[in-house]
Amino acid sequence: MQSYSLIAPAKINLYLEILGARPDGYHELAMILQSVGLADTIDLRLNGTDKFRLHCDHPQVPLGETNLASRAAKLMAEQFRDVFANYGGADITIHKRIPVAAGLAGGSANAAAVLVGLDLMWELGLTQSELQELGARLGSDVPFCIAGGTALATGRGEELDPLPPLSHLWAVLAKYRSLEVSTAWAYRTFREQFGSTYVSDPESLEDRRQRVHSGGMVGAVVRRDKAKIGQLLHNDLERSVLPAHPQVSQLRQALQLPGVLGVMMSGSGPTVFALTESEAQALQVREQVKAAISDPDLDLWVTEVSSTGIQLASPHPHPPEKP
Ligand code: C5P
Repeated sequence: MQSYSLIAPAKINLYLEILGARPDGYHELAMILQSVGLADTIDLRLNGTDKFRLHCDHPQVPLGETNLASRAAKLMAEQFRDVFANYGGADITIHKRIPVAAGLAGGSANAAAVLVGLDLMWELGLTQSELQELGARLGSDVPFCIAGGTALATGRGEELDPLPPLSHLWAVLAKYRSLEVSTAWAYRTFREQFGSTYVSDPESLEDRRQRVHSGGMVGAVVRRDKAKIGQLLHNDLERSVLPAHPQVSQLRQALQLPGVLGVMMSGSGPTVFALTESEAQALQVREQVKAAISDPDLDLWVTEVSSTGIQLASPHPHPPEKP
């Protein structure tokens, strides 16, 4: 087929623990990742040239080589040179709804959609784990974004153990539009402040990983105990990001309203989220926060947890072109 349209959902972190240092300079993590309904749409269309052309009208999305979606297309072209030579390039259009540099894996979701889309368009028939292996070369969150749902992620974040899907759980996401946090900065700052407490020997790391595996949050997710999930929300990166951005701490406090199961920053922030058991409660929380902080720079979304990763928006998104 000439064109595909894909849905690329955002993720939130129900849990993020920094276990220690890795020889490759990254951090050894234990996270529980959860897809949500808030999603970008990525359109891919063969363009009859030997180039990929990226389109996005969002002012904060870079259109050059640094864009993770472009890098995903380049990686596929390098991996499958003959197939690329046969099909040629494609126009990639990102319809951006996930906020940028927000801790919601928006860029990783876009890259994941390009991998899945090119696999379909080029009829490669790659398995999910083959796509995830390619995704891990682009970014730590890309493998999760391909599969979506609820998962325990370890290693850099690319080693995934699926957990039973959650449902009937809503998140109110809150972010100041003009505030972006770089993931690299958040981890670097954490290392500067807490690096002396890191463990790096394989035994200690395995021990700490096992503690998360058999710990309270995984148990709460498996039992679908939403009250417990709310209580056990955790993110180590709050310790480096919140002191640097007091307005995010205030926003986090403003979300602590009656009916809210728990509040936490997602990933490297600065998005914070509140979990609720019903959409009505989530909508109420959104209105109350809007009334309490009347700042035009504040964006709020209500979204339900989702059990899907990258999906086709529709099998025939565009009418066939006339000869
Ligand atoms: O993997 P990704 O490119 O998304 O990571 C962005 C940055 O976050 C990395 O360059 C690194 O500084 C930091 N990071 C880390 N440990 C991880 C994941 C990310 O230190 N496990």
